Amino acid sequence: MVKKITILGSTGSIGTQALQVLEKLEGKFEVVALSAGHNIPLLSEQIEKFHPKRVCVGSQECACILTTKYKDLEVVYGDEGLIDLCSDKSNDIILVAVSGKIGLKPTLTAIKNHIDIALANKETLVMAGDIVMREAAMNGVNILPVDSEHSAIHQCLNNKAGLRRLIITASGGPFLHKHVAEMKKATQEQALAHPRWNMGKKITIDSATLMNKGLEVIEAHHLFNVDYENIKTVIHPQSVVHSAVEYKDGSVIAQLGLPSMHIPIQYAICYPERIEGIKTDSFDFAKIGTMTFEEPDFNKFPLLKLAIECGKKSGSYTVCLNAADEEAVYAFLDGKISLGEISDIVSDMVQHHKSVANPDIDEIFEIDKMVREETKRLIENKYSKRSKA
Ligand SMILES: NC(=O)c1ccc[n+]([C@@H]2O[C@H](COP(=O)([O-])OP(=O)(O)OC[C@H]3O[C@@H](n4cnc5c(N)ncnc54)[C@H](OP(=O)(O)O)[C@@H]3O)[C@@H](O)[C@H]2O)c1
Repeated sequence: MVKKITILGSTGSIGTQALQVLEKLEGKFEVVALSAGHNIPLLSEQIEKFHPKRVCVGSQECACILTTKYKDLEVVYGDEGLIDLCSDKSNDIILVAVSGKIGLKPTLTAIKNHIDIALANKETLVMAGDIVMREAAMNGVNILPVDSEHSAIHQCLNNKAGLRRLIITASGGPFLHKHVAEMKKATQEQALAHPRWNMGKKITIDSATLMNKGLEVIEAHHLFNVDYENIKTVIHPQSVVHSAVEYKDGSVIAQLGLPSMHIPIQYAICYPERIEGIKTDSFDFAKIGTMTFEEPDFNKFPLLKLAIECGKKSGSYTVCLNAADEEAVYAFLDGKISLGEISDIVSDMVQHHKSVANPDIDEIFEIDKMVREETKRLIENKYSKRSKA
């Protein structure tokens, strides 16, 4: 059977790798729709290669360019456009690979339309994990993780009743063995030079501060319904063990593979089938040689600790955490603050947050908006001036 798929964020790191997987799985998938923000040249190449019936872009201007160029193509735009794509019940699966909060509403729309989700966009679960997982269960929808760590756990977790804990690995990023002072004043170039993974800018900066690992712990809590006390993080610089599951009898089952996002993307969109798509070299233990593991340094990477604390406190703390971090990361990428100031700003916002218990989806978006505005104000009034001084 040919599976019908839509990809949100087709021009990004995950989106382009997903299309490489589809190319190798010729005949098994039909691309219903693609979505991009503003990279129209790349989206045009993808339209010509994969022939979607519909596309969504980030703005009306981008939509006009495509409507003029492709007469038979249906073009929508903006947040409403993404929701429109996710309302199309002809889809079997939607890969959500946009970055940031824009992933949440389309994901919920697809779930309500009984469409399975391959989820790369972790912000969706960090912001509204309880709601998303409840809706997925009510609508009989599979949420298939694309993050390599969660894909690994999905593959290892075959006996929930016997589970002791989840073990999530982290490469440690570019500053693992650098002095903390050096890390705090790192340049954008240094922070974006991830030693193992080639990813979008937001997740790469989050990987440098280990915030990404904190977001992944929250994601794992929701995806697998496991208490925070039973989720352990461990640093594993080689990124060969993608994560593991420890059972009550002491057995540990880990998933291994060379660091490549093609594998978890293919696993998610083909689930439950395992097929040969993108060819990988056979795994060679002898060539890998040494695998090392160490405890994360919570003092050097305070955002990892803060994210786990926010997850434990629940309420709207993770909404605040996510919004403040996204704004602080973009301020760093805009050259307004230093890398070290990201954690100061996010900690400041979380400390002053007045949490709302069990927020509904409207409250989540209201809190998200408010926190973003406050974070921008804080950056302008306190940090930008300090950086310029
Ligand atoms: N990259 C990885 O290896 C990896 C691994 C695990 C999880 N993830 C997660 O997957 C998600 C995507 O990560 P990524 O690294 O692929 O990010 P990325 O390279 O920055 O790609 C983001 C995608 O979203 C699109 N986009 C951005 N703003 C948009 C808007 N306002 N409206 C519509 N589309 C918009 C971009 O379009 P344009 O470029 O056309 O503007 C692009 O296609 C993130 O949530 C990340 O945490 C990524």
